[in-house]
Amino acid sequence: MPRPIEIQTQRLEKNFGPNRVLRGVDLTIASGDLVAVVGGSGCGKTVLLETILGHYAPDGGRVLLADHDAPPGPDGCPPLADLAGLDDEGLDRIRLHWAVVFQRNALFTGSVFENLALWLRETKGLTDDQIRPIARRALDAVGFAGDDTILAKDRDDLSGGMAKRVAIARALAMDPLLMFYDEPTTGLDPAHAAQIHNLIRTTHDRRPAAPGVVAPTTVIVTHDKDLLRRLRPRVVMLHEGTVSFDGPYGQFAASESPIIRPYFDDAMPILHGRPTPG
Ligand SMILES: Nc1ncnc2c1ncn2[C@@H]1O[C@H](COP(=O)(O)OP(=O)(O)OP(=O)(O)O)[C@@H](O)[C@H]1O
Ligand SMILES: [Mg+2]
Repeated sequence: MPRPIEIQTQRLEKNFGPNRVLRGVDLTIASGDLVAVVGGSGCGKTVLLETILGHYAPDGGRVLLADHDAPPGPDGCPPLADLAGLDDEGLDRIRLHWAVVFQRNALFTGSVFENLALWLRETKGLTDDQIRPIARRALDAVGFAGDDTILAKDRDDLSGGMAKRVAIARALAMDPLLMFYDEPTTGLDPAHAAQIHNLIRTTHDRRPAAPGVVAPTTVIVTHDKDLLRRLRPRVVMLHEGTVSFDGPYGQFAASESPIIRPYFDDAMPILHGRPTPG
């Protein structure tokens, strides 16, 4: 059985008025991939993610998504559904297998417990008694072990770094097949950033890829060079609206390309990389 495709964009385009952000992005992400999407601030990383998630309609090209609940195709892989052809129910069914850590966290008003509980209640029908140990484990994993007050804390009382870790815990608690992280370490101190790097790795490796097994897939949008060094992912670089590099981290780091070098020479500005609580 070939490695099933999770996501494929074909000549994907997205404009905001005259601003042509995505100008033909071709990207294939297979089951089990650990992919980092990098590029200068404002190059369209978040827009690419949001378009894959169905929050923006493409202005050209297509987004294809694996439908894990449909009968497998002749090759044994989940069939691919065109995002444009999915109704709300179809998209919800596909999204059940995903969890997203948004750049600005997107926590709901209310307590940390409520933030972790809502999706578990709605999508998996769990009771609060069933949710509590899951929430606790997820919060422990992001560095809140021993903190008995965290579950009851209000979203508005979290610092930027705490909100980021709670957003990651909320995604982890869903035990998704596909994890998307948009800037998971921005605003964290180096110790918590290192903890998140390890967590991304262990979350990704929890069900190893094997023939016939759909393995966890991870897509990370990031400016964090320590993360790249630690995780050595497949790197996809966006530049001027298209994929300018797609290959292993080692090859990316060794590249002398005038597009890639500034990334390592800290010549790329980070404009809106700051997380906000909530
Ligand atoms: N909702 C929107 N309406 C209009 N323009 C938008 C919108 N969202 C993004 N843009 C524009 O699209 C371009 C790409 O933005 P995007 O947020 O994807 O950049 P990014 O690569 O994620 O940057 P960063 O690394 O700073 O997060 C920018 O020029 C931005 O101003
Ligand atoms: Mg962004």
